[in-house]
Amino acid sequence: MSKIILTGDRPTGRLHVGHYVGSLKRRVELQDSGEFDDIYIMIADAQALTDNADNPEKVRQNIVEVALDYLACGLDPKKTTILIQSMIPELTELSFYYMNLVTVSRLQRNPTVKSEIQMRNFEASIPVGFFTYPISQAADITAFKATTVPVGDDQLPMIEQTREIVHKFNAVYGDTLVEPEAFLPDNKACLRLPGTDGKAKMSKSLGNCIYLADTEEDVRKKIMSMFTDPNHLRVEDPGEVEGNPVFIYLDAFSTKEHFEEYLPEYDGLEELKAHYKRGGLGDVKVKKFLNNVMQSVLAPIRERRKVWEKDIPAVYEILKAGSEKAEKVAAHTLAEVRGAMKINYFEDGALIREQAEKYK
Ligand code: TRP
Repeated sequence: MSKIILTGDRPTGRLHVGHYVGSLKRRVELQDSGEFDDIYIMIADAQALTDNADNPEKVRQNIVEVALDYLACGLDPKKTTILIQSMIPELTELSFYYMNLVTVSRLQRNPTVKSEIQMRNFEASIPVGFFTYPISQAADITAFKATTVPVGDDQLPMIEQTREIVHKFNAVYGDTLVEPEAFLPDNKACLRLPGTDGKAKMSKSLGNCIYLADTEEDVRKKIMSMFTDPNHLRVEDPGEVEGNPVFIYLDAFSTKEHFEEYLPEYDGLEELKAHYKRGGLGDVKVKKFLNNVMQSVLAPIRERRKVWEKDIPAVYEILKAGSEKAEKVAAHTLAEVRGAMKINYFEDGALIREQAEKYK
C-alpha cells in the first residue's frame, strides 16, 4: 500500500515557532526521507471560514503568508503538493455523504471542538459549519487516501473521528477508504510550545508568539522579555525549570551543537538545568543562549522567505498547480465513493437493465 501524507493549517495568521517544532519541521524531514509516495499539504481556507465567516478578507490575506512560511521552512513543491482546500470542490461532496455517518452527540463529544466552542464564546450560537468541521477534515484526509497525518496532539480527536468515519463507511458500503494514523512529534516540548508569556498556548490575540517571519531584532526582544520562573529573583536563587518557558523552548530547539557553539562551558541542557535549579545562573544568560539558538534556527528560514517574497506570482502558481493536481486525486476518490454508495446511476448498466426489466 502507498504511504501518503496529508496535513494542513488554517490560514488565519502567519505561522509561528510552535507550528515549526510541532509539525513543519517534521513535514520537511518526512518530505526529504523519500519514504512517502505522495505528500499533500493543505491550506485549509474553507475550514478557517467556519469560524471566520464574517472575515473572509483575513483568510484571503493569509493564504500567501502560510504558503510563504511553508516554502521558507523547506517544503519543496517538487516533492510536496501544496494546495488550497476550497479549490477542491470534491471535498465538500465527500463531507456531505460522511455527515450521514456521524451523530450530533459524537461531534459534541469531540474535545477539540468542545474547547474551541468555549474559546470562541460560541456556546449559545454554534455555526453548523464550524460544528461539523471534523467531518470536513475527514474528507480532507480520506480524499487523498492519506495513511499518515503529521499533527500536534490537539488534532488527535480529528484523526480519531476520521478513523471512525472510515470504519463506518467501509462497513456499510464496502472497503473504499483508508484509515489514517496520526504522527506526533517525539519530543514532548514540541507538542505544545507555550507562549512567551508562559501561557499554555501561543495565540495571536495574546501577542505571545514568535513568528517565523519575525526579524532578528523582534525575536531577540521577545526572548529577552520572556516569562521565566517568577520566584527566581536573584541570580543566587534556585530556579524552577519545570513549566519555565525558557527551558521548554530549549528542550524543543537546542541541540548538542548549539551548546558546543554558544555555551561550551556546559556539557548540555541537563547540566544547564541543574545549575539553574541549584542557583547561581541568571535568566539573562539563559535567555541570551536561547536567543542564539533561535536565531540559528530561524535565520535560514527568514532568508528563504525573503527570496520567495520577491516572487509572489510564483507562489500563487505553485498553489494553483498543486490544487489542480490534488483535485484530480480527490475526484478519483469521489468516483470510488459514489460507486461504493451506488449513486453513480448513469455508469451503472445493471441498474438501468434492472429497472427496464421491472417495467417489461
Ligand atoms: N484543523 C487543522 C488546524 O486547525 C487544519 C486542518 C484542516 C488539517 N484539514 C486538515 C490538519 C487535515 C490535518 C489534516 O490546524
